[in-house]
Amino acid sequence: MKIKYNLLSLLIILCHIQDLLAKTGDKVGNYKLLVFTVGTEKTDGFLRYQRSSNVFGLRSVVLGMDQVWQGGDVRYFPGGGQKINLLRKALSLDIDKHYFEKFGRTPPIDISNEVDHHIDDDNLTEDDSEFSIANGKIDYDNLIVLFTDSYDVILNGNATKIIKAFLSTNSGLLFSSEIFCWPVTSLAESYPESEWKNKYLNSGGFIGFYRNLSEILKIPSDKNSIDTKDMEVDIIRADEDDQLYYTKMFLDPEIRKKLAIKLDYQNVVFQNLNGVPQEELKLTTLKDKYTDTESISEDVFSFSGISDSSSSGILTVINVVHKSEPMVIHGNGNSKIQLNYLSNYVPLAWSVVDGCLSCKENTFSLRSKQLPEYPTLFLHLHVDKSTPFLREFLAKIRGLEYPKNKIVLDIYSKVELHDDEISKFLTENSNRYLSSAWNKFEYQSYGTDQNSEDPTSNSMVYKERDDILYRFYRDTHKPQYFFTIDSECHLDNPKTLILLIEQNKTILAPMLARPGKMWTNFWGALSPSEFYARSDNYIDIVTYKQLGIFNVPFISSCYLIQRHKIMAWIKNIKISALAQQNKNEKLIGDDNNAISFEDEEMGLYSMYRWQKHDTDMAFCHNLRTMGDFMYITNLQMYGHLIDFEFYETSHFNNDLYQIFDNPKDWEDVYIHPDWKKQIDPEVKLEEPCPDVYWFPIFTDRFCDELIEEMENLGDWSGGRHEDQRLAGGYENVPTDDIHMRQIGLERHWLHFLKMYITPIQIKAYPGYHHDPPEAVMNFVVRYKPTAQSYLRPHHDSSTFTINAALNRYKIDYDGGGVRFLRYNCSIIDTRKGWSFIHPGRLTHYHEGLLITNGTRYLMVSFVDP
Ligand SMILES: *[C@@H]1O[C@H](CO)[C@@H](O)[C@H](O)[C@H]1NC(C)=O
Ligand SMILES: *[C@@H]1O[C@H](CO)[C@@H](O)[C@H](O)[C@H]1NC(C)=O
Ligand SMILES: *[C@@H]1O[C@H](CO)[C@@H](O)[C@H](O)[C@H]1NC(C)=O
Ligand SMILES: *[C@@H]1O[C@H](CO)[C@@H](O)[C@H](O)[C@H]1NC(C)=O
Ligand SMILES: *[C@@H]1O[C@H](CO)[C@@H](O)[C@H](O)[C@H]1NC(C)=O
Repeated sequence: MKIKYNLLSLLIILCHIQDLLAKTGDKVGNYKLLVFTVGTEKTDGFLRYQRSSNVFGLRSVVLGMDQVWQGGDVRYFPGGGQKINLLRKALSLDIDKHYFEKFGRTPPIDISNEVDHHIDDDNLTEDDSEFSIANGKIDYDNLIVLFTDSYDVILNGNATKIIKAFLSTNSGLLFSSEIFCWPVTSLAESYPESEWKNKYLNSGGFIGFYRNLSEILKIPSDKNSIDTKDMEVDIIRADEDDQLYYTKMFLDPEIRKKLAIKLDYQNVVFQNLNGVPQEELKLTTLKDKYTDTESISEDVFSFSGISDSSSSGILTVINVVHKSEPMVIHGNGNSKIQLNYLSNYVPLAWSVVDGCLSCKENTFSLRSKQLPEYPTLFLHLHVDKSTPFLREFLAKIRGLEYPKNKIVLDIYSKVELHDDEISKFLTENSNRYLSSAWNKFEYQSYGTDQNSEDPTSNSMVYKERDDILYRFYRDTHKPQYFFTIDSECHLDNPKTLILLIEQNKTILAPMLARPGKMWTNFWGALSPSEFYARSDNYIDIVTYKQLGIFNVPFISSCYLIQRHKIMAWIKNIKISALAQQNKNEKLIGDDNNAISFEDEEMGLYSMYRWQKHDTDMAFCHNLRTMGDFMYITNLQMYGHLIDFEFYETSHFNNDLYQIFDNPKDWEDVYIHPDWKKQIDPEVKLEEPCPDVYWFPIFTDRFCDELIEEMENLGDWSGGRHEDQRLAGGYENVPTDDIHMRQIGLERHWLHFLKMYITPIQIKAYPGYHHDPPEAVMNFVVRYKPTAQSYLRPHHDSSTFTINAALNRYKIDYDGGGVRFLRYNCSIIDTRKGWSFIHPGRLTHYHEGLLITNGTRYLMVSFVDP
């Protein structure tokens, strides 16, 4: 009997297929596509889904919006039965011209104005995008229904394309396929044989004829339970698993055959990303029609190369194994980050020709506003580690173009070293800001941590960060934006705040990198343990080859958050807090506004806490968990990162020693701005005496700090012939000096010679080049009327000598200067920060002239002895 039945149904199915083939031959236009999704909150993922739906004019009907989700936390537990009940009810309603209104469908976002493109493939005409219902009647036989999740789904094809692909599968109901059998793994054995790994059903996306789908939604999960004809009755408990429900239907051979249910093994319509090897999917431009799958491999998109000028360069996703172009992309399970990656490029988000298209959406101009209309901004400076160039950090903050009377300045610091600098900054600037506050680390305010002796250990630090959110929350100015910046972030671009606000993203970080390094304030991908992993686009982003705004899994150090997002977090935390109050946790802050817990186990309720990870990792983990998108932008240059890791703070002027770790900043601060010009072959070096050249080299700050460093050590040699610092222990022409080695700056100095002096030397004395330059005698000389007031004529033990004035003639001292005897040529009015370069021996016999008042300092270096 059974066999007979099966044969019969096989026959029916064969007829079906005939029928379907015939239909495929028909105009695809005979069919209508009705698209459903489900979402209870307008999460970032939901808005992304909606955008993708609107791009193709798909008029998706949203089920469940603003309902309380009862389907359980489907990330960890089975659930989602609610989705089935919602769809069932939606399909039971008459599909007439009021149908969409019943779901309060929002009008499509008009992106066509913003993205000015001729897209051959996706020419959105109103006719096709509208779901037109002729004569108020719908042809239910030709109605095709697509259902997908929303938070982790993007659509990537228009209705025509989706219908075509579905029809090509000859199925009545097509489910997406995946490589994991979930939620009941033991059902794996019951699945039909398949040559593919992705042989299991996933219910995050399916498409089918209206009739077939309506049919399946009448079958109760527990067969004899309810009257299934009444569509108002729930067919499944809300917290039962929807995927299990459909799986059972599929695994029932009778139902499978009757409703012609298939799985989309070939990814013709659906692509689930979980567990799919990265190589299986490619972002590509397609020259002509997507049907030309043979040419796919040539067209494979590579950001470093091919730009396909014959098309608009719009990207799509292809599955290279199945040579298909899936139109529903689902970041199921652990593949949310892969989906986020893809959604930087599709649909209609990127063009190889014109770059980032989606970057232009939803932006606005702040600069067109009058200053009094600027939104209030909460600007938080975070100084929690010794950081080189903090003075410059603060100067750049001060220089940001934004009305200061719209800024609530909030500083947090716990590094005593920087207190003076911060204090000075506040004294000079605080009254310009709308308000300002300086919160210093106080051990007591954070209680004691049983696990650590170190009050600054990670396990405590999250509370400091929470407190900042709390201060933002309570601020009476109700700032519209929250901007936090750590002390290693240098905003060289004064427009940064304005540019970020204008992008109108909820959470946006400006890309900052250590100059010349791949170290930045974002990660493009995550390792399985949620640490750094390199994404395919990482280097292109860091090197500005791809310019855009990218959805990434990790940002740190400097970012802007819109007010509504923080208020939503705090609301959620408050709800959690109230729910937890029975358990007697002590809340930090007043009870109504608590955002942080004392309880060790309550890390979940801190935005900055996750296990024992640092606050950045925890913050981003929590954002990912909540489905909040983080973006990094490199549309402009915003600034750079300081390398603080090996910052040695035992010196008097610590930044003076940063030539290796932060060469760019060091140069900006210490090298004279006119130095670079001197290397230009067109520019003639000044030559005050024969073969003596004179050039700007140091800033005043360098000169002052070097003197301070020497005076701080104070170990002047006294100008004696006996000198234990020298190999022979004897100095023929002794000066009152301190060697660079004595202040630990020798290595830095030699590097300085190579970087900044060698280019000048090559220009002054062509044909002589020693790399690296050698110099055993590098020292600061001090002349005083009372100690060493002059130096008798002598040769230097060098091939050439560098001699730079560190202070000012006639202001800091009188008299002094140098005289080259052979030419009877003296230079008295030396210039602070300028150096001579002159041959050391034979021709340039010279003397140090008598100083009459004050103190004169010189930096001298004997190069290539
Ligand atoms: C839909 O997409 C297909 C394939 O990309 C394209 O050929 C067709 O013109 C599109 N239809 C409309 C109405 O945009
Ligand atoms: C399922 O789909 C096929 C193919 O279009 C159709 O012929 C059949 O009638 C449908 N079955 C039901 C029960 O709706
Ligand atoms: C900012 O973006 C949101 C969507 O994310 C949009 O609703 C809003 O209108 C935009 N704001 C402005 C001022 O354009
Ligand atoms: C050296 O120069 C000074 C002034 O520049 C002049 O007074 C003096 O006579 C010169 N001496 C010789 C030996 O030329
Ligand atoms: C030396 O310099 C100091 C301060 O610059 C000044 O007060 C003093 O009068 C000077 N003495 C002579 C002899 O020029």
